[in-house]
Amino acid sequence: AHSHTPIALGTTSVDEVVGGRRMRRNRRADWSRRLVRENTVTVDDLIWPIFLTEGNGVREAVSSMPGVDRLSIDNAVRAAEEAAKLGIPAIALFPNTDPSLRDETGSEALNPENLVCRACRAVREEGFDIGIITDVALDPYTSHGHDGLMHGEEILNDETVEQLVSQALIQAEAGCDVIAPSDMMDGRIGAIRQALDLKGHRNTQIMAYSAKYASAFYGPFRDAIGTNATLVGDKRTYQIDPANTNEALREVELDLAEGADMVMVKPGLPYLDIIRRVKDTFLVPTYAYQVSGEYAMIAAAAQNGWLDRDRAMMESLMAFKRAGADGILTYFAAEVARKLKAGA
Ligand code: PBG
Repeated sequence: AHSHTPIALGTTSVDEVVGGRRMRRNRRADWSRRLVRENTVTVDDLIWPIFLTEGNGVREAVSSMPGVDRLSIDNAVRAAEEAAKLGIPAIALFPNTDPSLRDETGSEALNPENLVCRACRAVREEGFDIGIITDVALDPYTSHGHDGLMHGEEILNDETVEQLVSQALIQAEAGCDVIAPSDMMDGRIGAIRQALDLKGHRNTQIMAYSAKYASAFYGPFRDAIGTNATLVGDKRTYQIDPANTNEALREVELDLAEGADMVMVKPGLPYLDIIRRVKDTFLVPTYAYQVSGEYAMIAAAAQNGWLDRDRAMMESLMAFKRAGADGILTYFAAEVARKLKAGA
């Protein structure tokens, strides 16, 4: 049976134990909690990844990401407009390439009329005050779903870098503001920087996916861009082993030396330790990617009534700020921005 008599303290009182130090005092009232709050999430922290698909008036659900759709360019332009009105600083574009256009070498990546380039120009033409980030990697365009060129089982590094440089150039020419190489080939940041400078794109920024891990949490993204079914093997020969920390710092160091303006850690929540170490070590603009699988976990649990979508969303974003991130790529971006605007 339970005793409700507080016998453990004996003759000692809690007052004697705490000696006046009571942490709960600051937590009593909302105004006080706000006053002592160390971190905040604002709309300026948000980058909104948007999935693109062909067609007009198309909005198709990504089944593994409840609440996220693939948008045709016209709808993507409208999404960009809403994002700009909400004050979201930037969007990131990801194409679901028509399967008939995918091949061994990802040649569609070099087509200046590909989905991403057309979307980029369409958004640019509207003159919205918003940054456009485009992904550099071959996976949306290759029949095997890898980020680089394949020779047998091998993902070729230097040959891939050459192609990524051309891909980055056509994206810069289409008017994107930030090139975001997500491929993890060695030397690509330096090569892309050099080519951009030579071709008159000195002001095009580079956000390097520097600490990108070989993660299970990318599953729903591969659904969204249609590479899950086709991916041959895995990406462990180029993405970082989840067991490693120092290696991520080395990647960041190299990308910065090669000219990256901003660096990214990906995935997000399972890698908060990396964000903190990167930020503390290099003191540069550091971004977290709350990836598709992280979004899916929250969205699915919320759909089942197992957790509060709103609160889990806000708490996860606060965690990134607490870890030192300067911003977060998140599929929740528009939802969060609407919530912040409403003052909730
Ligand atoms: C591929 C790329 C991936 C993501 C962004 N760019 C997946 C991968 O490496 O297979 C993942 C984003 C997400 O899961 O939300 N270049």
